Amino acid sequence: MTMTDFAVRMHRTGGPEVLQYEAVEPGAPAPGEARVRQHAVGVNFIDIYHRSGLYPVPLPSGLGQEAAGVVEAIGPGVSEVAVGDRVAYAGGPLGAYATARNISADRLVRLPDGISFDTAAALMLKGLTAHYLLRRTCRVEPGDAVLIHAAAGGVGLIACQWARALGATVIGTVSTPDKAALAQANGCEHALTGVAPADLAAQVRALTGGRGVRVVYDGIGRDTFMASLDCLQPMGMMVSYGNASGPVAPFEPGMLAQKGSLFLTRPTLFHYIAARADLVAAADELFARVLDGTLQINIQQRHALADCARAHEALAARRTTGSTILLPQ
Ligand SMILES: NC(=O)c1ccc[n+]([C@@H]2O[C@H](COP(=O)([O-])OP(=O)(O)OC[C@H]3O[C@@H](n4cnc5c(N)ncnc54)[C@H](OP(=O)(O)O)[C@@H]3O)[C@@H](O)[C@H]2O)c1
Repeated sequence: MTMTDFAVRMHRTGGPEVLQYEAVEPGAPAPGEARVRQHAVGVNFIDIYHRSGLYPVPLPSGLGQEAAGVVEAIGPGVSEVAVGDRVAYAGGPLGAYATARNISADRLVRLPDGISFDTAAALMLKGLTAHYLLRRTCRVEPGDAVLIHAAAGGVGLIACQWARALGATVIGTVSTPDKAALAQANGCEHALTGVAPADLAAQVRALTGGRGVRVVYDGIGRDTFMASLDCLQPMGMMVSYGNASGPVAPFEPGMLAQKGSLFLTRPTLFHYIAARADLVAAADELFARVLDGTLQINIQQRHALADCARAHEALAARRTTGSTILLPQ
């Protein structure tokens, strides 16, 4: 008996209702590809940008960029993985919301035995993001004060733990007391709760002896961008890496001079792991920090793959903490 495969597809952009659960036939992997039987799929805010049309994609389209599973077939010329390997990935063409899929084998990393499929699906995209933000975009050093917005979120909980382990003082923002408690249990020393953007800089300066932080990691975007700049030390770095509240409005670059010769970057993970050597090195470092206990991966929401619309609603409505995964049946 052959197994029917399913994938979440969208034929138009819009709300969660555009997500359709459809029978698909992944077919044999093409040269350079592997077919992965997926055991767990990660949900990320970028999936909402693709679904809503904020980040345009050709339609119809699959969705999702993070999953873990087992290689069940390889195409010609594949050397990175073999049939039976436990693997995971972050990035690549949309289509992770699926029971099985073909994907370029050079995007796959082998999983250590100590990392489950669920954990891998919860950490690949968010953890590799935390890695490049803290280790490459701005290399966090002991004694740094850093500000991490959405500290109880998927990227946020991993980034708080990692920044603390690197010796930083972590200041986070969250919207509720429950989120504050979770962030504090995960390395965030000061969890600023429900602070209006206009009041943020004063609170951050009060916690840093008036100096401000060396780096702000801002995945919220429109609502917090300007307030974040005001939290920085002279020559500090503004890392605007997401737009959960909407895209940042255009502004005059001279403002960066006025506010202290600030650095600004708007990075995306996919450039940092475009070279396979960078992907493998970052994943090795991430897995090592999970296996040595530095990073706890908080899977706070689990849904059936077919119920992914509910996962999207909760993430967009700020009702989630930590990581959300989808489980193919
Ligand atoms: N550039 C990259 O390489 C990269 C890679 C991965 C993720 N990202 C970005 O990082 C951010 C976090 O991603 P994630 O998947 O881990 O999501 P998440 O942080 O788990 O969820 C988003 C959080 O943002 C906060 N938020 C503030 N204003 C919001 C609004 N108007 N609508 C919705 N949420 C709002 C909420 O936390 P509070 O309720 O506590 O405020 C919410 O829980 C996203 O912007 C994502 O696009 C960027």
